[in-house]
Amino acid sequence: MKLDVLLGLQWGDEGKGKIVDVLTPKYDVIARFQGGPNAGHSLEFNDIKHVLHTIPSGIFHPEKVNIIGNGVVIDPVIFRKEIEGLKKFNINFNQLFISKKAHLILPTHRLLDAASEAAKGATKIGSTLKGIGPTYMDKTGRNGLRVGDIFASDFQQRYDNLKNKHIEMLNNYNFKFDLTEYEADWFRGVESIREFQAVDSEYMVNKFLAEDKSVLAEGAQGTLLDIDFGSYPYVTSSNTICAGACTGLGIGPNKVGEVLGIVKAYCTRVGSGPFPTELFDETGDKLRQVGREFGATTGRPRRCGWLDLPALKYSIMINGVTQMILTKSDILSEFDTIKVCVAYKINGEVTEQLPYDVNLPIEPVYKEFKGWKKDIAKATSMSDLPQELVDYIRFVEDEVKVPFSIISVGPDRKETIFK
Ligand code: GDP
Ligand code: IMO
Ligand code: MG
Repeated sequence: MKLDVLLGLQWGDEGKGKIVDVLTPKYDVIARFQGGPNAGHSLEFNDIKHVLHTIPSGIFHPEKVNIIGNGVVIDPVIFRKEIEGLKKFNINFNQLFISKKAHLILPTHRLLDAASEAAKGATKIGSTLKGIGPTYMDKTGRNGLRVGDIFASDFQQRYDNLKNKHIEMLNNYNFKFDLTEYEADWFRGVESIREFQAVDSEYMVNKFLAEDKSVLAEGAQGTLLDIDFGSYPYVTSSNTICAGACTGLGIGPNKVGEVLGIVKAYCTRVGSGPFPTELFDETGDKLRQVGREFGATTGRPRRCGWLDLPALKYSIMINGVTQMILTKSDILSEFDTIKVCVAYKINGEVTEQLPYDVNLPIEPVYKEFKGWKKDIAKATSMSDLPQELVDYIRFVEDEVKVPFSIISVGPDRKETIFK
């Protein structure tokens, strides 16, 4: 059996959580492969909205296995809070496994994130301040602490050594802090992690595949936030792309099956960095209000703009996307005219290629579509959709040469059309 990968093709918040939850019945195993609590994955059913940060979005299906892979970084405080919040629901925690090789976010990693952002001033990344960058830096710098280390007899010593190193760095930043409260919480979180099964998840995932079990890898963030291919330096610190599923779970590239790319019907971005189709006018405000575009992790208002085809084509190329899934098309129901960016004008030249220089001014070239102005939340099949939306979907498919397999028309599990 091959492993399917689901990931975001824009700047995150495409609706990955909802779609993973919808697709979970088709799979035996759901596995997160990168990122950490910078992610906020929302899903809704029975009139309740859940937001997950570290735990895979398959967790509400008690018969399924959920794995937090080696590529993920875990903050024990946030992990414990998430577990506590889930306890009142029908969750089978015996089926949740954590890779021993997943790295731990220390309290001082969060402080370093804040200190680094403060030092950058106007050029700050707009990080979620969850300590993601500093934790991945310690991973690649070969200093990090991993989940497996919490079972070692000298864990406290290793923690203190890394913490002291961080304190020196914080002093260099002249950054003032008080660790007492968060640190106590952190060790309570570590105790909570101990109650779960820490595993060699690479063996586990490969064994599942060998036994013909189906696995869905759940990405976090989006392709345009990838450390290598995003708008560097305004990116996150992990490989959010399909290749990240190989390194973040320990599977060979020949084990990847379908690559499911989630596309929001318009674009949003939180934090700094280029956003060619960003709208600064009332249309942008309307997208934010109607689409409820406020961060699931930080509550920050999301920047909003029209769909960007050059960026989408780039994401499809980097990931080898085989199917797309469209989310939030219902939000566009309120608009008379819908625009899609088909090319960029840079220094007077029309191009479809994303420029290397993130500071170059880009003027989007738009194609306009007539809006459908009809509520589509109750649509259950393609034939229920207005012709204008079907035309919009066809246009995107023809442009990017990949089909949509699902059209999501609302946040609830049920508001989903399988094409
Ligand atoms: P993720 O990070 O990719 O999982 O996305 P987020 O959860 O951060 O943001 C997506 C938001 O859109 C959440 O509030 C979802 O409940 C919501 N959502 C997902 N799909 C749809 C959809 O098709 N229509 C509407 N109206 N909302 C959706
Ligand atoms: P999900 O999984 C949207 C953004 C931050 C910032 C940049 C770096 O919910 O789609 P970091 O905290 O990683 O150092 O921040 O990346 N960012 C996200 N934006 N959705 C996310 O996750 C994000 N995770 C990080 O806003 O611009
Ligand atoms: Mg999100």
